[in-house]
Amino acid sequence: MNKRILVSGGAGFIGSHVATELIQAGYDVVVADNMSNCDMTCFQGVQKITGREDIPFVKIDFCDGDSVNKLFSDFQIDAVIHFAAFKAVGESVMEPVKYYKNNLCSFLNVLDAAKTHGGCNVLFSSSATVYGDPDKLPVTEESPRQSAASPYGNTKQICEDILEDTVKATRRFGKSVCPGISNNGPIKGIALRYFNPIGAHPSALIGELPRGVPNNLVPFITQTAIGKRECLSIFGDDYPTPDGTCQRDYIDINDLAKAHVAAVARMLEEKMKEDYEIFNIGTGRPLSVLELVKTFEKVNNLKLNYKFAPRREGDIPAIWADPTLANKELGWKAGRSIEETLESAWAWERHLAEINK
Ligand code: UD1
Repeated sequence: MNKRILVSGGAGFIGSHVATELIQAGYDVVVADNMSNCDMTCFQGVQKITGREDIPFVKIDFCDGDSVNKLFSDFQIDAVIHFAAFKAVGESVMEPVKYYKNNLCSFLNVLDAAKTHGGCNVLFSSSATVYGDPDKLPVTEESPRQSAASPYGNTKQICEDILEDTVKATRRFGKSVCPGISNNGPIKGIALRYFNPIGAHPSALIGELPRGVPNNLVPFITQTAIGKRECLSIFGDDYPTPDGTCQRDYIDINDLAKAHVAAVARMLEEKMKEDYEIFNIGTGRPLSVLELVKTFEKVNNLKLNYKFAPRREGDIPAIWADPTLANKELGWKAGRSIEETLESAWAWERHLAEINK
């Protein structure tokens, strides 16, 4: 029987790409989402790409513990990949309670259910935001975490800690704290720290669906190119970087999704070296905002309306990953070029324009 993976937040941007890759790798998948920040477009895209009309979909609020428990009773879950969380950095500064409540409660409910039902490994979607403004680049998993600049970032740090503590406790105290583990050993945990996920599936059937004005760079670029936004503001041209604009590690969403498949396999095939592991998921290649904009123009053969604007509060000058550990231990490497990624982002925006006509 195939192993079954629960993808919480599986109808969203990252979740839908991960669900696709998991199905294509031969896993059974349950997609669960409260649909608070997406519609059915991406889930339907996953069905089309995989040719699977029968993927179980459950509309569920992960903050409701009883519903989460029922979900784990209804399906035999071998691993859960947890994406269900709010992710707007600016909004989290304005509404910290909303962010802490949602992001922490939903994860605690998942862990509770995983403990009760047993045999369940947990993969948490963390972020490079935990490194803050690093002293040394590129960052390795050993680079120190810095106190979070936003409640959103803090929820990522706290959830990493909660996962690590839970994994440790199930190893140490076994069945007395974790009734379901008798046959399957302790809960295993992996946190993947993503750098900047961008792009869309090559089919252009799934991609990012920002609500309102996008905060992130690439959706803002594609919306400007299609005429939904007038002009892209490049925040800051006086950073201590080669061209004065910020540098990030932009990771293709399909590559990122494949890292999850590799991590799930590592958990399920019992290849983990520790019960709790952390991996950076990035390319290892810094790219400036200006370089990204110019590459987007070039590969898609268009001119983007952009201007330089003051720095955005909270932005750091530069961050990129040292992905050596993931390369070695997960046998995973970012493979798609930035050109392919930016072409796919533009194809997705045009697909959206087409279906919303
Ligand atoms: C943010 C979050 C990160 C999250 C990521 C993807 C922080 C510090 N960062 O990263 O945790 O994983 O989003 O959701 O919490 N830019 C412009 N103009 C724009 C938009 C962005 O110039 O209109 C620039 C920014 O200044 C930055 C770069 O583009 O230098 C990338 O910005 P963005 O896509 O928002 O991602 P991050 O802030 O790096």
